[in-house]
This record gives sequence, structure tokens and C-alpha cells, in this order.
Amino acid sequence: MQKLTIHGGTPLSGEIQISGAKNAALPILCTSLLTYESLRIKNVPHLNDVTTMLKLLKQMGTNISIDKDSEISLTTTHLSNPIAPYEMVKTMRAAILVLGPMLARTGEAKISLPGGCAIGLRPVDQHIKGLQAMGAEIHIKHGYIHAKASQLIGAHIVMDTVTVTGTENLMMAATLAEGITTLENAAREPEVVDLACCLISMGAKIHGAGSDVITIKGVKLLHETTYQVIADRIEAGTFLVAAAASGGDIHLKNTCPNILNSVLDKLVESGAKIQSGEDWVNLKMTNKLQSVNICTAPYPAFPTDMQAQFMVLNSVAEGTSRITENIFENRFMHVLELKRMGARIEVEGNTAVVHGVDKLEGASVMATDLRASACLVLAGLIAQGETIIDRIYHLDRGYERIEEKLLSLGVKINRIN
Ligand code: EPU
Repeated sequence: MQKLTIHGGTPLSGEIQISGAKNAALPILCTSLLTYESLRIKNVPHLNDVTTMLKLLKQMGTNISIDKDSEISLTTTHLSNPIAPYEMVKTMRAAILVLGPMLARTGEAKISLPGGCAIGLRPVDQHIKGLQAMGAEIHIKHGYIHAKASQLIGAHIVMDTVTVTGTENLMMAATLAEGITTLENAAREPEVVDLACCLISMGAKIHGAGSDVITIKGVKLLHETTYQVIADRIEAGTFLVAAAASGGDIHLKNTCPNILNSVLDKLVESGAKIQSGEDWVNLKMTNKLQSVNICTAPYPAFPTDMQAQFMVLNSVAEGTSRITENIFENRFMHVLELKRMGARIEVEGNTAVVHGVDKLEGASVMATDLRASACLVLAGLIAQGETIIDRIYHLDRGYERIEEKLLSLGVKINRIN
């Protein structure tokens, strides 16, 4: 199993390019299931989750070619195998995203139930409820969701909770349904908007993406497109926090500051000086780091996927802060590892109280999920001495060429087998 070693203490300095967004690319690749024609998707990050999704699509009948770096062509002339097996869904929950398009296209889908995962229970009841409202017959047998519908029918669906992949699944299914579907209490995340833009470029009739009410008028067929995935706001945020916590100065290219507002606001509050343009952000840390309170919530509020990274920042900032996690019930697993590195954190229910200390100390730590892994990398690069991070396969699911980027910013980082 591979590990990362990091010698901490160097402020990040330099310029990097932000990759395409994992959580936009995954649903966008699934749109291939909705059309007989070819899609060309650009700015797809090279990540393990993307590889798993491509494997799943290929197994279902999609023809895939990797044209050049970050550019993928997909053609699903014939969906030969409408099954997403447990082996794939268990390694990547986003595999649930094939449910809606597969059902809309073939009238049938069989997908393994994802089950719980490290950060929480993560049920998919809203995906199922929405498809049932559109006329699907759904049975759960032997751990699999069996869905059937000779023709999905548009429906008015009020979602009980804001769900990103739930909104995406239903939006994709509704593009080929008969009549109009309205999704109320829909997720407003930029990745949902990016998927909607891709679908619109394929001929879908979608209004309201980015608001909490999305209306989709079903069409008979969708067609070919070429589409570029948006930049990864969580990758950008992670590097910005790394620069702020290490007292650095970095420039991010190919990013979208307008979808990062809640994170940028917190970085300014922590003492960072930020400048930005349409597709770039510059962060310089010259002041003493101040701790900031964080409360995670659906977009446009502060993202849960940035919570762990800000925990590191607060660990070495001046003052005491409160970090409240409102999306996932078990997303504080990094706390124990940070405490082993000298952080002072107490957890009270879904709130972590962080007392800033002067420094963290390098240690051997274990990554437990994707964003917790990023948090440990950040902790390692500001800690005194050497940090060894185990189970970094989590990191490779969501950060493209992370060591290469950190090395170019001056971090002493190494991957070992
Ligand atoms: N929920 C339900 N029922 C459902 C669906 C969700 O109760 O049918 C609950 C979940 O248990 C959770 C909350 O609703 O408490 C929000 O979950 P959501 O469905 O929005 O999460 P997701 O779609 O499974 C996506 C991202 C996550 C990100 C969350 C929240 C993808 C592939 N994944 O997950 O990304 O944390 O939205 O923004 O888009 C990551 O990249 O590290 C990651 C975990």
C-alpha cells in the first residue's frame, strides 16, 4: 500500500493549474447513457473515481476513447448490460448516478444499493422516491435496486432533503420523460448547474438549475455535444487553505472564484489577502492566522467538502473556533489523527471546538476518507518534522497529481510503496 511522506514547514509558493471538477465530471460522463450519439467531454480530471466510472460505463455498453490528456469521447449506441454491480458501487457511491439515465433510456436498471460509508449513512431514498413519482416500479432485493418503467412520466417532486446526486439523477431521468418534471428543494451546487448546461447542450429543456426549483420538459431524443467540465472548487479551496495555513503566497489558474465565495470569505476572515479575476485567484498570507467559525450547509453556504481542511487551519490559528458539520453525521474522523499531531480539539455532537496551538508535530497518521486525507496532507505540510500518511488511495480518488502540484509549490513530499 502506498504512503506519503511530508517534511513540513515550507510556506507554499508558486503557481498551479486547477483540474476539472470530479463531482461535475462524474454525472456528466453518465449523460452518455441518455443518447445514441457521441459526446466529447473536456477537462476531465485523471482520478481513480473517474476511472471507476469509465469502467462501469464500458461494462454497460459505452464505447470510450481517451483522445488526449483530460479529453474523453463516449458513445453508447447500445446499452447491453443495465447493471451496476456491488463491486463498483462499493468503491464509488457516485455509481448511483447511472440509475436515472439508464432507467430513462432502457426502461430498466439494476443497481447495487450503496450502503453506508465512512462519513455517514448516506441513504438514496430521495433518488428512489423521485423515480417512483415519475412512474417507476422499484423493488429492493438482495441488496440491489431493481427499477422498471416502460416510459417515465413527468412529475412534481418535492425533495425531503437537499441532495446533490439525488437532484442530478432525477434531472437526467426527467430529460427523456414524457411531460414536465419539477424538482422542488433541488440542490443548487455548481456541479448540478454544470450537468444541466451539458444536458442543455445535448438538447434537453431545463430551466432553473442553480435555484431550488428546476423544471425539465422531457424530449424524445438527446444528441451529441462537446462539453468542458468546470474547474474543481474543492481542489482550489484545498490549495488556498494550504497556502494560508503555511503562511504562503500562491496563484491558481483555470479556476472559478465566483463559485468559491463562502470559502474565500472565510480565508479573508482568517487574515489572508486575496485577489481574483475571472479564472484566477491569488492568495498571500502576511498576517497572523486567525481562527474562523464554520457551519457547513448546502451551496451557496460553506461546503462540507472543505470542513476538514479548515480544521487544520484553525488548529494552528489564534483563538478558539467552532466547526459545525450539518451534512454528514460522521465527518470528524480526521479529528483523532490531528490530535495525534498535537491539535487541541474537542468534539461535542456535530460541533468540533478547536483551540489554536503554536505548532503541529509530524506523526504517522491514517487517511479515512477523501477530504480527511487532504486535511492530513495540509497538517503534514505545516507540521514540524516528518508526517507519514497511510491509506492514500482515498486521496487519489479526488485530487489529480497532488504531489506534483505540491512539489511545484515547494512542499517536500514523496510517495513511497
Ligand atoms: N440524503 C438522504 N437521502 C438521499 C440522499 C441524501 O437523506 O436520498 C442525505 C445524505 O445522507 C446527507 C445529505 O442528504 O446527509 C446530503 O447528501 P447528498 O446526497 O447531497 O450527497 P451526495 O450527492 O451523495 C455529493 C458529493 C459529495 C459531497 C455532497 C455534499 C458527488 C459525487 N459527491 O454527495 O462529495 O460531500 O454531495 O455536498 O457529487 C467528496 O467529493 O468528497 C464528496 C463526498
